[in-house]
Amino acid sequence: MNDARKSAGAAVLFVCLGNICRSPTAEGVFRCIVKSAGLEELIRVDSAGTHDYHVGEKPDPRAIAAAQLRQIDLSAFRGRQTDSEDFYEFDFVLAMDQSNLSHLARIAPPKAKAQLGLLLDFATDCEEQEVPDPYYGGNNGFERVLDLIENAATGLLAEIRSRWNI
Ligand code: 4NP
Repeated sequence: MNDARKSAGAAVLFVCLGNICRSPTAEGVFRCIVKSAGLEELIRVDSAGTHDYHVGEKPDPRAIAAAQLRQIDLSAFRGRQTDSEDFYEFDFVLAMDQSNLSHLARIAPPKAKAQLGLLLDFATDCEEQEVPDPYYGGNNGFERVLDLIENAATGLLAEIRSRWNI
């Protein structure tokens, strides 16, 4: 990556299966900490799902409620599916679990610029490598999702600040 690109800022896409639970939560959490750092002009944040089951839908009401308790508003987000442009437009395409990551690796165009990885690679003092799918579980699954994502989001922002000098 050249310096011109670096100074233009970073772009991050969070990906899960349906884009209604984990990845919109990651988008909301990361937007919040980026805004607190005053970097919203320099860091683009988005989310998408590997599958099209919930395209155009709001996040799951349980995800919206859990995030709201932490003053994070997910209600304006709408589900979308990943497409090949994402691999050129984003610097990081970060999956919530190994299955999402394998899917992304399969569909990534050969000249993709995005760094593919797991979001929890950026977490500190964390046993887990994957953000567990809360869709079929109870409300405490959404709390766990938020805890894991908040941890990793802090590490991700530190990595971007260091790489982009911002
Ligand atoms: P997400 O959760 O991938 O975190 O948005 C899911 C949402 C929907 C389904 C599975 C997981 N589904 O099977 O419809």
